[in-house]
Amino acid sequence: MFRHKAESHPRSGRHSGRRRKESKIAAAKGRAEAMLKPEWIKIGVPGFDELLEKGIPKGTNILIAGGPGTGKTILCLQTLYNAAREGHDCLYATFEEAPWRLHRHMEEFGWGAEKVEGKGPLWKLTFGKAEKRGSLVIRKLDPIQIARSVEGLLEKSAGRLSIKMEGIPELVPATLTPYMIALDSLSALESAFTGKPGNYRIYIEQLFRIFEERGATTFLITETEESPTRYSRAGVEEFLADGVFVLYNTKIRGLRVQAIEILKLRGAKHERKIVPIQITSHGITVFPSETIYGAEELK
Ligand SMILES: Nc1ncnc2c1ncn2[C@@H]1O[C@H](COP(=O)(O)OP(=O)(O)OP(=O)(O)O)[C@@H](O)[C@H]1O
Ligand SMILES: [Mg+2]
Repeated sequence: MFRHKAESHPRSGRHSGRRRKESKIAAAKGRAEAMLKPEWIKIGVPGFDELLEKGIPKGTNILIAGGPGTGKTILCLQTLYNAAREGHDCLYATFEEAPWRLHRHMEEFGWGAEKVEGKGPLWKLTFGKAEKRGSLVIRKLDPIQIARSVEGLLEKSAGRLSIKMEGIPELVPATLTPYMIALDSLSALESAFTGKPGNYRIYIEQLFRIFEERGATTFLITETEESPTRYSRAGVEEFLADGVFVLYNTKIRGLRVQAIEILKLRGAKHERKIVPIQITSHGITVFPSETIYGAEELK
């Protein structure tokens, strides 16, 4: 059983302070390197990467927007599984499903781990052997606890618009340096800020800044209408994010269509069309060269 020191003692003085400083230095170094030599990420979901000329610029944050049951969770799990299998360390932060359930989904899709260490809200799956060993940490967080601590902090800060995240449960523990992060979902987080949309916006801006500092490529799930015209409930996230991928599951002339679209992706050349996807017992497959008859009706 592995234990997370930073979690059991979120403000544990000297050591966590030093770790935070070291991780800030590493993040700054990572950003400087990224500016000199852009690195392109492939997500490895069959067919998807063909929608991009070179890939996703490393370190960008992307909204995965879509209605209920469109495959948002599967797309993120599949992407992080692919990265972990290639030897990277990834983090799946969830407000929705228990880690054991996500792990069970993965097994059903045939994405078995070499080693599983887990209990309650924190699971660690290890993939591959020797030099290609990667991991996926699945972490369940309570959005209400985050919302309450942000509200408390803002009350104390007497209306200041920028806050330090000290004392707020960290989405990305300072002890982890993830290559990819998925957050499931921003919508659940937003709902926890009942009647306080202003506080949510302040928090979300800080969160995007943290993701940028950490240099991880980040996938942020948002729940939308079946045929969305907005890609997040508060409307700020789609402007803060570098990219928006939209998943559709809708009826066109009596037929149910499952599809994906890269709506925007800063700094990358990509296809601008809605293409069909299929979800099977192996996960998601994208069909990049097919088009959907009547796709304009999705808009
Ligand atoms: N083994 C499978 N074979 C085919 N389709 C599957 C399989 N497993 C799941 N699905 C499809 O995937 C959908 C769920 O995908 P997923 O959980 O990723 O959706 P989601 O967008 O995260 O949903 P929610 O909004 O409820 O969180 C199901 O509605 C089902 O149609
Ligand atoms: Mg989901």
